[in-house]
Amino acid sequence: MRRSLPGLFAFALVGLAGCVDKADLPRPVAQGDPARGLDVIRQVGCAACHAIPGVAWPEGRSAGALAGFGARPLIAGRLPNQPDVLVRWLIDAPSLDAGTAMPPMPLTQAQARDVAAYLYELDDD
Ligand code: HEC
Repeated sequence: MRRSLPGLFAFALVGLAGCVDKADLPRPVAQGDPARGLDVIRQVGCAACHAIPGVAWPEGRSAGALAGFGARPLIAGRLPNQPDVLVRWLIDAPSLDAGTAMPPMPLTQAQARDVAAYLYELDDD
């Protein structure tokens, strides 16, 4: 117990520093690479359903535009917009909400982290 106190204290300080930012932005995604994420987004065709900054075509209209997504507190209006939840959402949204129209996507964990890192860069509309 005693030994972990300095660690906890450091953690609390990091937490306080984080509060200076609006809505805890940016949200770093462990090992996520935004540039690779954009490549993955293009390869797997997210833009068939979503308009996504950085992807000129297509600009799908069957799902919401993702501009500004990084600044939103919730995923799909009902799940906390945090890296772990987003990574899982991207791979298998129905596992978080059986009723969602967002299909499971063929992404590895590493690819989903890259995509999440890219989406968190989209922090203004
Ligand atoms: C077949 C169409 C389709 C494809 C392909 C698709 N999505 Fe979605 N996506 C949806 C729909 C529909 C929703 C809304 C889900 C809901 O509200 O339950 C959604 C929701 C989302 C959300 C939450 C948006 C918000 O405003 O909170 C994100 C983020 C997202 N998708 C990212 C992606 C990414 C990244 C890809 C590619 C890896 C992708 N989607 C591929 C249909 C799709």
